[in-house]
Amino acid sequence: MAKMTVKDLDLKDKKVLVRVDFNVPVKDGVITDDTRIKAALPTINYILEQGGKAILFSHLGRVKTEEDKAGKSLKPVAERLSELLGKNVTFVPETRGSELEAAIADMKDGDVVVFENTRYEDIDGKKESGNDAELGKYWASLGDVFVNDAFGTAHRAHASNVGIASTGIPTVAGFLMEKEIKFIGEAVEEPKRPMIAILGGAKVSDKIGVIKNLIPKADKILIGGGMTYTFYKAKGMEIGNSLVEADKVELAKELIEAAGDKLVLPVDSITAAEFSNDVPTEEHTGDVPTGQMGLDIGPESIALFAQTLEGAKTVVWNGPMGVFEMSNFARGTIGVCEAIANLKDATTIIGGGDSAAAAEQLGFADKFTHISTGGGASLELLEGKELPGLAAINDK
Ligand code: 3PG
Repeated sequence: MAKMTVKDLDLKDKKVLVRVDFNVPVKDGVITDDTRIKAALPTINYILEQGGKAILFSHLGRVKTEEDKAGKSLKPVAERLSELLGKNVTFVPETRGSELEAAIADMKDGDVVVFENTRYEDIDGKKESGNDAELGKYWASLGDVFVNDAFGTAHRAHASNVGIASTGIPTVAGFLMEKEIKFIGEAVEEPKRPMIAILGGAKVSDKIGVIKNLIPKADKILIGGGMTYTFYKAKGMEIGNSLVEADKVELAKELIEAAGDKLVLPVDSITAAEFSNDVPTEEHTGDVPTGQMGLDIGPESIALFAQTLEGAKTVVWNGPMGVFEMSNFARGTIGVCEAIANLKDATTIIGGGDSAAAAEQLGFADKFTHISTGGGASLELLEGKELPGLAAINDK
């Protein structure tokens, strides 16, 4: 990456502003998945080892009104971070003001402060999400240097990433940002071949940009999930009651045409009469009959995908193959996970969001080379878009 990183700065005695993505799921005050907090530890530990003072901040959820604040404080995140670091973390329950400034003034080398959810600043006029210049300037004034390690937020141009960087404060990438860009960037731009993309999920509309960007770059693109049936419709097949985006059928035809034999569609489906795990399932090759809806890829498709994946050296996967949350429709996603797990000497990457959750839940997380912490950010990177949070980091 031609961007400066945390290693390019002298951090000793410095007040180091660190934008992390601690947008983690919290239920009844309890963090249900701390992956993103763990993923930020290498950068935080490095800053502390170098004698810096780490001032951490993040958004959590979306906050538009006072009521939205419920359950979105970063306090439990600061507590979890303290456990993971094995040291005291000072939590400041505000995003600006005298208490925050005093806490920072009190910091010694190696201390950690976490301040409150940056999106609390959205209640009074979208200052964080609207990249309010004054807010970016205020936050920048609290530190000497700025480390952006929030890969998951890199597709947003907000005050807490782009705004701070725009003030001219030295701005570098953290280790997580560096790692994510390296893995996903290399997989797309200079992959070891064959490079195979596996794209699933409910909607073609979510993946159009990715499919278009990957057609010239991938050796094969395997399609699964609900979006299969918009492609089936485009091929004139019967889809029963399966999900379809009627306004995307023409586009699906164009994608089939442009991709030629690079595009591999499922050949069979697991179907049911209802979107439920409690009704009988059926297996159908090709067309889905009237009254049935396709909810997973079938065994012939799993075998076809596994065979296509054989010998792959780079695999990028985004979007589950079926409704994996229901056990009757999880086999397709499990089958793809198994096929990927069996590959030798391959770089295998899951692009965040649902597919990362699927790999975790189905017990395959440790079989991948890299699981992205970014949902939207990893998708936009796969689409070949410039990420504003990354662009705002100083070039080497
Ligand atoms: C994510 O979870 O994808 C990031 O934290 C960004 O969150 P957002 O979609 O609310 O901006």
